[in-house]
Amino acid sequence: MSEVLAIYPGSFDPITHGHLDLIERGSRLFDHLVVAILTNIEKQALFTVEERVEMLREATQGMANVSVDTFSGLLVDYARRKKARAIVRGIRAFSDYEYELQMVLMNRQLEPNIETVFLTPAQAYGHISSRLVKEIFQHGGSVKGLVPPLVEERLRQKVFSK
Ligand code: PNS
Repeated sequence: MSEVLAIYPGSFDPITHGHLDLIERGSRLFDHLVVAILTNIEKQALFTVEERVEMLREATQGMANVSVDTFSGLLVDYARRKKARAIVRGIRAFSDYEYELQMVLMNRQLEPNIETVFLTPAQAYGHISSRLVKEIFQHGGSVKGLVPPLVEERLRQKVFSK
């Protein structure tokens, strides 16, 4: 049987413990998991794509079947090019569901052969978002336990060396 590859797409600006928890779960479920950073992002990002790739590579270096990549354009086109069978997305709360449902249905309309799989992070990470991490850090709050130490260090460099 052929290996099943899944894509975990997102902006990862920056990666949190919630993302890492989902990456671990996804890597146990699929033969290969590609964490794919969207490059043509509409949101204003704090970290460059290169910085996000570096942080993700560092944070996932112990995971043999996980790789990190970037993509632009439509997710389904990228997934087709990678011959992916699934797209992984995280759902933390009901509030995530509406946006995610719209995306899964749209992606399915564009490419019916690729399934979206929703994973839920450990309860301890259910409240973490990259947006809140950045906001807390920029206002001097502690992000310990929300992001890996390597991201905390990058945040320090980025925010305080301006
Ligand atoms: O982490 P995010 O920002 O919630 O991730 C959103 C992402 C990257 C998954 C989504 O914006 C996306 O897939 N963008 C690529 C463009 C695309 O395919 N748009 C149509 C989606 S229905």
